[in-house]
Amino acid sequence: MGDENLWTAFEAAAATGGALCSRGGEGDDWPAEEWSAAGISIDTRSLKPGDIFVALRDARDGHEFLKSAFDAGAAAALVAKAPDTAPDGAPLLVVGDTLQGLRDLALAARLRNFGKRIGVTGSAGKTSTKEILRAVLSAGGSVHAADKSFNNHWGVPLTLARLPMHADYGVFEIGMNHAGEITPLTNLVRPHAAIITTVGAAHLEFFDSVENIAEAKAEIFLGLAPGGVAVLPFDNDYFELLKERAEASGAASFVTFGENAGADFRLLEYKAAGAGARLRTSIKGEERGFDVGIPGKHQALNMLAALAAADAVGADLDRSIAALASLEPAEGRGQRTIIQAEGGDAVLIDESYNANPSSMAASIGLLGAAVPGAGGRRIAVLGEMLELGPDAPALHASLAATLIEAKVDRVYAAGELMRHLWDVLPKDMCGLYAGSAVGLVGAVEDAIKSGDVVMIKGSNASKVSAVAKALQSRAANRKRAS
Ligand SMILES: Nc1ncnc2c1ncn2[C@@H]1O[C@H](COP(=O)(O)OP(=O)(O)OP(=O)(O)O)[C@@H](O)[C@H]1O
Ligand SMILES: [Mg+2]
Repeated sequence: MGDENLWTAFEAAAATGGALCSRGGEGDDWPAEEWSAAGISIDTRSLKPGDIFVALRDARDGHEFLKSAFDAGAAAALVAKAPDTAPDGAPLLVVGDTLQGLRDLALAARLRNFGKRIGVTGSAGKTSTKEILRAVLSAGGSVHAADKSFNNHWGVPLTLARLPMHADYGVFEIGMNHAGEITPLTNLVRPHAAIITTVGAAHLEFFDSVENIAEAKAEIFLGLAPGGVAVLPFDNDYFELLKERAEASGAASFVTFGENAGADFRLLEYKAAGAGARLRTSIKGEERGFDVGIPGKHQALNMLAALAAADAVGADLDRSIAALASLEPAEGRGQRTIIQAEGGDAVLIDESYNANPSSMAASIGLLGAAVPGAGGRRIAVLGEMLELGPDAPALHASLAATLIEAKVDRVYAAGELMRHLWDVLPKDMCGLYAGSAVGLVGAVEDAIKSGDVVMIKGSNASKVSAVAKALQSRAANRKRAS
């Protein structure tokens, strides 16, 4: 990105086998064969001038937006037919199927790049680990990674098609809802190192068991480049299964991260420090202590996974470790903000970006590790965890034990499924239950007092981020808490 010549017309045509053309007259101002593009976009709302617009047929048909794309400054459009909707003179690259066209661009982008690629999958922590890798690898070269959580059948090819020819590293988040979805994505990326952050109960709606989820995650190893390295979660219940799959896939080797003795990249001790943490680790047998910029033991484990992958693709370990100190949490993933409350300041921990049982437990743990100010309390504001299938009620009810263990004082909960927690929660912990998250905003705002620590968590669709937004607007100088 920011690469003036990401794709020329002829490169894109050669990669996709498509035809260069334009509608109407000769198009003197915009010759169909003489464009070059600095980026690629599939959404006219975020398209930047100079991007190729790819007209995908997804929730809506991208061909309906060709005019907006060119109004926004598109250099060309990748389309599936010579469409009536194309403005006169607009340069087009016509292929049989635009998603396949995007994949073809992605493949060509990979083939012409001399850098190293890392793939990241797992039930939680993919985006976090991708951002950690961006920071770590940037210490030793140029890094390409998506700005967003682009991890699906179009997100992965889009990210790869944007890979600059001279990038030293590419980092790719690879997600799935169903068995078989990771295989074509990892085959496209062909990572030199592939991380599985963790395997847990996410997307149970589409799987009979967590073991089947582990099998589906292990598909990532099928695409490893020759000599590739599998990075495995040592403490996970499915470690042996993942290891076997890594070995069977032809991974040249594997490396492990975790807390248990025997992990190659091992967390020995986690201590909250300032807005981040201080870690004591053992890395390839050598004990090392260092500061990191973002809090949470789960994030510390993501960091060890990232270090293992960076090391596997040849990045310098000392520089990688040093880069961890300047990390900052991404939106909704643990940012801390000092907010104004009755009687003084309180701390908001915004974990509102999505939830499943693993990440919910991690976030509640983070709240438990936070130390409230004088007279302050630990307050959890929880939205539902969705896509959990028939176990959903039990998984919600089981949060009661986690909340008690974390010494949470008050719980605010929203959504149908949270009723199952509400019904078993000790009465003195009950703040308020509401049918939807917006129903909690006023009550939470009224409840917060000086010294409180408030943590917000729930699936994206639970809209619990609305509570986070309302509280963010009370940020004292919008500065990060320490
Ligand atoms: N290793 C981990 N184990 C458990 N929870 C984690 C882990 N890493 C991050 N989390 C928590 O999970 C939530 C989602 O994190 P993140 O966005 O990194 O995951 P993701 O796998 O990219 O999610 P998605 O599938 O929605 O793209 C955050 O609240 C984060 O704090
Ligand atoms: Mg993500």
